[in-house]
Amino acid sequence: MTETPLYEGKAKKVFRTDRADEYLVFFKDDATAFNGVKKGRIESKGELNNAISSAFFEILAQAGIKTHFLRRVDANSMLVKKVDIIPLEVVTRNLAAGSLAQRLGWAEGKALPSPIVEFYYKDDALGDPLINNSHIAALGLVTPRELEWLELQALAINQILRQFLLARDVKLVDFKLEFGRVGNEIILADEISPDTCRFWDAQTNQKLDKDRFRQDLGQVSEAYQELYQRLLNPAAYKARVEVRLKPSVLDPQGEAILRSLKSLGHVEFSSIRVGKLIELTLTGDSEAQVKEKMAKLADELLANPNMENYAITVEPKQ
Ligand SMILES: Nc1ncnc2c1ncn2[C@@H]1O[C@H](COP(=O)(O)OP(=O)(O)OP(=O)(O)O)[C@@H](O)[C@H]1O
Ligand SMILES: [Mg+2]
Repeated sequence: MTETPLYEGKAKKVFRTDRADEYLVFFKDDATAFNGVKKGRIESKGELNNAISSAFFEILAQAGIKTHFLRRVDANSMLVKKVDIIPLEVVTRNLAAGSLAQRLGWAEGKALPSPIVEFYYKDDALGDPLINNSHIAALGLVTPRELEWLELQALAINQILRQFLLARDVKLVDFKLEFGRVGNEIILADEISPDTCRFWDAQTNQKLDKDRFRQDLGQVSEAYQELYQRLLNPAAYKARVEVRLKPSVLDPQGEAILRSLKSLGHVEFSSIRVGKLIELTLTGDSEAQVKEKMAKLADELLANPNMENYAITVEPKQ
């Protein structure tokens, strides 16, 4: 690792490593808002954002999302795959807040009928303006197909993070992602932290993110710490395993019910399959981890893989 960073941004320093394809990212305590106009420091922010980002990247990787994250190296740093950052900020919103609330005159916290994905041109000198697909095409930042993929990827990430957070009593209001190219792939890069997301307590709507700094609400470091604590908590999930006989397997129980139905005059029924529903409550790290565990249990114990098919659904237990 070299001493001088390759790049020093507002929140992080990026260092070269011994490997040409890896960078070390160091998270700073410095905080800025309103495109650098408001400056300050948030106690322990670097460590907390490094830990929080690492946790989110791990959750996403478990759910099959490709990210630049390799591993956390020490309190303030993580090792990542070097990418060519695409100068687009991909913002996904579930509730109105910040610039969206302002632009459309919507009350902060208004629920959106479905998530909104927005693109901003990553250019500090221009103040990161909101742009649409025509601007993106004119700027030649990504192809229309890539843009479509980025939007779908943002929505998929939204689903994963939203579920994960809801299980820990946190609402994901909105968040900003950056993607980068490596070879002919596009992967998720940068950070996912209270600097780049809005997190609200699900019960009280208390803010657990950088809005506390932007709006001088106090207890900024404490809020980042609280969010991190919640991520560490295993959460409660409800898992449903539906087990059904394979179509090729005879179903004597079903046949018996069908015969009874017919003998009672219900001639409209022509086929039947009897199965079982197993509902379980358990704690786990994430929806993906619980799903994987339940599939293993279904194979080994809950179903007979020779004769039965199963379907698993997992959701946060409310
Ligand atoms: N895997 C990666 N490879 C290369 N660059 C990365 C990677 N992940 C993040 N970056 C870039 O490293 C920089 C991190 O610094 P920081 O977040 O402090 O920047 P910033 O002040 O927000 O400024 P800006 O993001 O506008 O450059 C960002 O420019 C980010 O796009
Ligand atoms: Mg940044």
